Amino acid sequence: MALPVYVLNGPNLNLLGTREPEVYGRATLADIEKAVKARAKSHGLKIVFRQSNHEGVLVDWIQEAREAASGVIINPGAYGHTSIAIFDALKALDKPIVEVHLSNLYQREAFRHQSYVSLVAKGVIVGLGDMGYLLAVDAMAQLVGSSPGKRK
Ligand code: DQA
Repeated sequence: MALPVYVLNGPNLNLLGTREPEVYGRATLADIEKAVKARAKSHGLKIVFRQSNHEGVLVDWIQEAREAASGVIINPGAYGHTSIAIFDALKALDKPIVEVHLSNLYQREAFRHQSYVSLVAKGVIVGLGDMGYLLAVDAMAQLVGSSPGKRK
C-alpha cells in the first residue's frame, strides 16, 4: 500500500465553522476531514489529517512526512505568510506539495498576498472554500500516480 498523503492545517483552522464564516465558510475542520477522506478513498489514497496552532509542531510533521508520506497538502493558515521554518521544512521534503487556502488571499489584506509555502508548492488553490481541499486531493492523486481508475 502506498504511503498516505498528509493533510496539514495550521493555526486557527480548528475554529472553522464559527470563525468568520463569511470568509471561511460554515464547514468545520471535522467536516472537511470527512470529505477529504472520502474523496481520497475514491482515488485509492490514504490520508493522515492533522491541525496544530504551533509552528514547531507543523515543522515536526513536515519532517515526519519525509519518510511517512507520499505527498503533503497544507493549509498553513497565517504561517504561510510568516514562517521561514515551515518553508525550510517543506523545501527539505522531496515530495509533491499542494497549498490550499479557503479564502482568496488576493482579495484580502496585502500581508496575505505573499506565501512562503507557494515558493515550494507544486500548486496552489485559493478562494474555493472547502472545495479547495477536495481539488487538492484530486491533484495529489495525479501527482503521486494513484490510479484514476479507482475513482468512483
Ligand atoms: C487561510 C488564509 C490565511 O491568511 C489566514 O491567516 C488563515 C486561513 C485560508 O484558508 O484562507 O488562517 O489560510
